[in-house]
Amino acid sequence: MSKQKTIYICSNCNAETPRWQGKCPDCNEWNTLEAKEVTVSPKSSSLNRHSKASEPSKIVTSKKESITRFSSGISELDQVLGGGIVPGCLILLGGDPGIGKSTLALQSAVLVSKTKKVLYISGEESVEQVSMRCLRLYPNAEVLLLAETSLEAIIATLEVQKPDLAIIDSVQTISSEEVNGVIGGVSQVSFVTNSLMRIAKKYHIAMFIIGHVTKEGLLAGPKTMEHMVDTVLYLEGERFMSLRILRSSKNRFGSVGEIGVFEMAESGLVEVKNPSLRFLDQRQENLPGSCIAPVVEGNKVLLVEVQALTTKTSFGYPRRTTSGFDLNRLQLICAIIQKTLNIDVSSQDVYINIAGGFAVSERAVDVPVALAIISSLKNKPLPNNLVAFGEIGLLGEIRTVTQVETRLKELEKLGFNNVVVGGYKNQDSSNKFKKLKMSFIGSIKELVSLLK
Ligand code: TYD
Ligand code: MG
Repeated sequence: MSKQKTIYICSNCNAETPRWQGKCPDCNEWNTLEAKEVTVSPKSSSLNRHSKASEPSKIVTSKKESITRFSSGISELDQVLGGGIVPGCLILLGGDPGIGKSTLALQSAVLVSKTKKVLYISGEESVEQVSMRCLRLYPNAEVLLLAETSLEAIIATLEVQKPDLAIIDSVQTISSEEVNGVIGGVSQVSFVTNSLMRIAKKYHIAMFIIGHVTKEGLLAGPKTMEHMVDTVLYLEGERFMSLRILRSSKNRFGSVGEIGVFEMAESGLVEVKNPSLRFLDQRQENLPGSCIAPVVEGNKVLLVEVQALTTKTSFGYPRRTTSGFDLNRLQLICAIIQKTLNIDVSSQDVYINIAGGFAVSERAVDVPVALAIISSLKNKPLPNNLVAFGEIGLLGEIRTVTQVETRLKELEKLGFNNVVVGGYKNQDSSNKFKKLKMSFIGSIKELVSLLK
């Protein structure tokens, strides 16, 4: 027989606890636990449970050989999506406020409208506001617009209109009457996403759902939202700079390695076709604390400037701050420099910045980070246009990274000639890339001699 039981659910992170507490044990927020009555059925041991067995199936070959995608009208976006939009797929587009999410979605909506039916639903702006923006970007634009925040009204409209593509801007502004909880809160956002998912699959409507990002850079709302959708895209960049990067962190219909590079211009987001050197635009030469790193993203090699600033700690614990680079990795690199090179980093505050608002996660950037730090500590610049890459191990050894030749090929093409390559293993490449002057290094101790 089933019985009633009270559980407590956190309105911030959806965690469940059996007892009321002042602070959520999962997300540590105060006063967020709310009581909820649930019906629990008595547990039966798996041995004496008599449920009917399901019939497993063999691998099914679909009648359709491949998924038929359609273009978003923006080739960089198509590439990040794995070759275009798949009918019925739910795409979550996240990013900081003002970064250009609405602009990107609107541009795609207008371009897809030329051949397909598109509905742009805005919960943030009126039809007049969206129209104005639309006409400014494309004077002859035609796209169906709707300003609505009620989920029920949106679903009813989608059921009648059955567009090929719908854009929901943004999920945090849509709410349902069926759920309690604040608009944009965890329960509303999960319910809205779930309902839209059902509609998308039922009517084969591809959807872009725009979502805001929290201060920590995570999509606001429950993690389950990311699990629900087919694709998660992030638009990143520095708000006050023009370059934007679009990357996918999940894609059920393609790989997640590809990135798209855009520039925010008067006419909206413009694709940057040759982005390799774009992140070095404002770099100044001959300054201590700067090193160039070649970063591989999908099929692109981008050159980014790693900047380091070290200053004496004024009191107490030294600060380590990063922008676009992993903080734990920086702490590790500082510890390795301290121990292996016997340079005093522990009394220095260290700041790392990847210029241009680019976030790098590759280990290949270890060596440029270390070089920039050492260069700032010694107040000596690195040789002009020196490019470096390699991974640093805990013992101070420098290892080779993946796609060495891809990086070298691009560097040769771009006319760089002074390259520091991590790992002795790569020495064979010097025969292949005759124009490049390469130094192969296997230990962090060899870095100091590279300074001017
Ligand atoms: P928006 O797409 O509204 O950002 P989000 O939806 O991510 O919050 O873009 C807002 C910024 O983009 C705004 O500060 C102005 C700038 N912008 C341009 O520079 N050019 C343009 O053509 C457009 C439409 C916006
Ligand atoms: Mg917006």
